[in-house]
Amino acid sequence: MASQTQRKVPVAHTITTIGGTPPQEAMVDKIVKAFTITPEYLEEITQHFLSEMKKGLNEEDQTIAMIPSFVEGRLTGEEVGQFLALDLGGTNLRVVLVDLQGRGNFTTKSTKYKVSDSLKTGDVKDLYNFIADCIDSFLTEHNLDYGTADIHLGYTFSFPVYQSKINRGLQKQWTKGFNCSGAIGKDPVILLQDALAKKHVPVLVSALVNDTVGTLLSNAYSKPDTNAGIIFGTGSNGAYIEKMSNIKKWKGGPTSSDEMIINMEFGAFDNERVVLPVTPWDNKLDRESINPHKQIFEKMISGMYLGEIARNVLLELVDRTLLFEGYSSKELNSQWGFETTYMSTIEADQGDSLKETHRVLSSSLNIPKVSEVDCRIVKRVCDLVGTRAARLAAAAIAGIARQSSSVQNGCDIGIDGSLYEFYPSFEQRIEQGLVELFPDVPDINKRIRLGLAKDGSGVGAALCACVAKKMAERRPSV
Ligand code: BGC
Repeated sequence: MASQTQRKVPVAHTITTIGGTPPQEAMVDKIVKAFTITPEYLEEITQHFLSEMKKGLNEEDQTIAMIPSFVEGRLTGEEVGQFLALDLGGTNLRVVLVDLQGRGNFTTKSTKYKVSDSLKTGDVKDLYNFIADCIDSFLTEHNLDYGTADIHLGYTFSFPVYQSKINRGLQKQWTKGFNCSGAIGKDPVILLQDALAKKHVPVLVSALVNDTVGTLLSNAYSKPDTNAGIIFGTGSNGAYIEKMSNIKKWKGGPTSSDEMIINMEFGAFDNERVVLPVTPWDNKLDRESINPHKQIFEKMISGMYLGEIARNVLLELVDRTLLFEGYSSKELNSQWGFETTYMSTIEADQGDSLKETHRVLSSSLNIPKVSEVDCRIVKRVCDLVGTRAARLAAAAIAGIARQSSSVQNGCDIGIDGSLYEFYPSFEQRIEQGLVELFPDVPDINKRIRLGLAKDGSGVGAALCACVAKKMAERRPSV
């Protein structure tokens, strides 16, 4: 299996004419203004992003945290062997058995487990007991028995962690709907290793990996010119390869390479709200979220949140009697009730009657009366929220490309996540943003080569565990 797969993502069909009443048209114009990011504005956002990146490289505790991952240098392509990966922080918990065969080749077997809302917000010990049980049953299911040796596991933990070694770190905060007690300031590896030890599960947690770092590694396994890994999924973040000499805050002593992967944690970009086009509908989402005033950039660009922003806009239109004759439904009134997947369906819908949009509104959301004008307004709102997200995503990619001077030489960027993989025209909209941000580089989309890096959190974590195992064999104290 290769790390890249061909995919067919539907195209977004944009509509320009609403055909509504003057008050409806006026309100739609207001919404268009609030969500539109002009090329000049996009440049301003990118410049601020870049200066925040530099701040994070210079000092600790900055808004973009720029966390050194302790993954030094680049892969050789010679990484081989069987490893386990654990992936926590996406839609599901996953345990993956990865067989690395060298030069970008690998096979995987994985099982998904649902993490209930009560586990996501309860005592962290319960979460880790659950995880240890999942790993135990995975080993049994796949008949994995390594005799006396422990199986090495790469732990993809997709939350902000201040790392102190390749397999050590302290959790900074929760994001994406997780909020367990007893985890902040603790080491996720120790919590997991303890839970495994209590149940006598023969697994050694040898690497702690952010999903973006894993994505970078898995992309680099087959594409050595990779210099960044990005997630546009439930949440958003990026990692890239930085020169040690630019990491001014580094206090970790001598390294074996002059480069290291940085986990940026860019979801927190502009929490101060200096530059981002934060609307009242974003503020409502933020206020009602479990982490108000945190991760504002993430909340404007990620799968978990886009539907909720659109829902907030639609409810204001309903309240002003400009949509659905002023009637909502229980589903539309519920927080998270307008899923981002509905937006995907609506954005891909085409033709005059917008049948799919009508179906989502009347069947999935139970709106009593839906007119064609209503469908067009809803489609326009989805277009605005989805396009803004992709353009902001482009600003982040441009920031990384400028910082790492990768435009001149060209580079591959591995991207994973449901939004990038499935949302209509998400990638094309990013590419359009990049064209605007690099007006002097006519072939920018050939130089910054975006591509789907499938299963960064599985294969990437296995690669990291492999690197860590080699390091440990060389230096027994690691
Ligand atoms: C987390 C990051 C993670 C990203 C994508 C964010 O909420 O803070 O650590 O990489 O989601 O999963």
